[in-house]
Amino acid sequence: MNKILIVISIFLCSITGEAQENTFIPQPESVVFNTGGFQLNNETKVYIPSKNYTDLQSIVASKLKQDIDLNLSINKGKVRVSSNYIVFQKVKDASIDSEGYILEITDKKVVIKAKDYAGLFNGFQSLRQAIPVGIKGTTVVPNMLITDNPRFHWRGVLLDVSRHFQTKEFVMKQIDVLSAYKINIFHLHLTDDQGWRIEIKKYPKLTEKGAWRAKRDGIAWWSREAATADEPKTVGGFYTQDDIREIIAFAKTRNVEIIPEIDVPGHSKALVASYPELFCSDIDTTNVSFEVAVGGKAPNNTVCPASEYTYEFLEDVIEEIAALFPSKYLHIGGDECSKKDWKKSAMCKQLMDENGLEDYEELQSYFIQRIHKIVEKQNKTMIGWDEVLSGNGVPGATIMAWRRGKYTPEVQAPRAGYPTIMTSYLHSYISRVQGPTSMEPEGPNSVLPLSVVYNHEPVPSELTEEEAARVLGNQASLWGEFTPTESHFEYMLYPRTLASAEVSWSDPKVKSWERFQYALETSHFKRLERDNVNVAKSLFTVYPVFGIDQLHSKAIVYLETEAVGYTIYYTLDGSDPTIDSNKYEGNFKATPKSLLKAGLFNKTGDLLGEITEVRLK
Ligand code: ACM
Repeated sequence: MNKILIVISIFLCSITGEAQENTFIPQPESVVFNTGGFQLNNETKVYIPSKNYTDLQSIVASKLKQDIDLNLSINKGKVRVSSNYIVFQKVKDASIDSEGYILEITDKKVVIKAKDYAGLFNGFQSLRQAIPVGIKGTTVVPNMLITDNPRFHWRGVLLDVSRHFQTKEFVMKQIDVLSAYKINIFHLHLTDDQGWRIEIKKYPKLTEKGAWRAKRDGIAWWSREAATADEPKTVGGFYTQDDIREIIAFAKTRNVEIIPEIDVPGHSKALVASYPELFCSDIDTTNVSFEVAVGGKAPNNTVCPASEYTYEFLEDVIEEIAALFPSKYLHIGGDECSKKDWKKSAMCKQLMDENGLEDYEELQSYFIQRIHKIVEKQNKTMIGWDEVLSGNGVPGATIMAWRRGKYTPEVQAPRAGYPTIMTSYLHSYISRVQGPTSMEPEGPNSVLPLSVVYNHEPVPSELTEEEAARVLGNQASLWGEFTPTESHFEYMLYPRTLASAEVSWSDPKVKSWERFQYALETSHFKRLERDNVNVAKSLFTVYPVFGIDQLHSKAIVYLETEAVGYTIYYTLDGSDPTIDSNKYEGNFKATPKSLLKAGLFNKTGDLLGEITEVRLK
């Protein structure tokens, strides 16, 4: 898109003469504001093509009711009035890709054009964002023309519902919120050491036993004592197959595909706790616990690759999963598999000898390749975490590339011909905390600020065009170890999933961190709060950096924020900062042991985030 259009889209004026600001997330391909506006009121009629009526009408009606308290008449088929209407049109237009749309708002009408249902849905979400926030009832929507297409068709979010189970209602709420930001993939991490979360009819113990663990509230995740066999197991939950069908149907009308993950052969403590016969039978289990893990430690959590029972069992499970989920993808995990127990098993050694497997990585490949065949038999494409590339790899699978640094699956996988989904732990693992650790809720001791998620380029520059075309998209992943409550879960999701949505949808040429953070401040935080979503405002937190100069008995202080275009004010006398306090204009000296308080303020003098407080010692 050319630069002039971006400038126009940011600064053009409406009828009111006020500057129209482009606060769309994700940033569309092109936004051109025009003078005038469309009056949206209770008389406005909506027309939806007959074929899409059932799915779209309830979403349009309920969102316009929820957002601005209007009760609109939603009609099927052709437009029957000459003005004051919103029409959804299916069109063949070479400029519109799958999931893309054109949204035209003029004095008389709003037209949303797309070639598919997904595009109509996405166009409606942009219309919702065009409606000024905070108004109920009749409102004027500025005239504009948006032309928009996605960069990637994989715009994912992973929810780990194993470490802390999340209810069906909560999952559906997140699908509803994230689909408004054009997220179209929900990857459900359904099984792990700490809980199996999906009903499998043939193996009821998976949820009778595997979905429940002993309570260890208030004890740090990594310090928890393993459960004993006779302790009550009260923490957990699972989705019935009917729950899953309900989630899938809800997601489908929101253009969201649900990807199920069953994580094997490692991360399987809940699985082997439910069916210990999946553990290698020739290993001495005197000191092995077959209880669902209660925290981070989960020894003896692998299924046996040398037992035919493992493959028969997993084939049954995969058959049920494949029948339940319409997605063409089925994720089988494959990550972080400890080989410690396999090394103790004579059965594993014998299998390796018989099949000429040189090491335990090749044994893992043997397992993964057999699971791949089972998945293919169900006419599904297997996804595996990038560890499945080790040993002999698994040709024909799709790779989810999470590791970075020592391992380079983001380059290796597309180069080797694998379709690849990027979810870099350095840029997209939103389970990491998002501000100074002293000011954030408990989490891993590792910070992933919003701006790092936003500025991530998922396609490595080393790839050729042909290799880069194998990158299917990008995904934000929320692992659930440290998010026991719904409000904390949402706090980790928002706004970093919005940043990831823009990475996944928008052409890098139209991205701007400054615009994005401004759109959050002035529009989306209000929209999310209106919709009862718990958002983190950590991007506005001031990071204090200081050292003590003992020679001169002074503290030297730097204050930093990831947000740009705002001003830091601070105090050293214990009072809360305001815009009348000291303005931060560069590093300064202070008396050691003073109490520093600092906050970030916008141009109208509002404090944007929390006040940072630190004793300079
Ligand atoms: C992973 O983070 N183990 C996929």
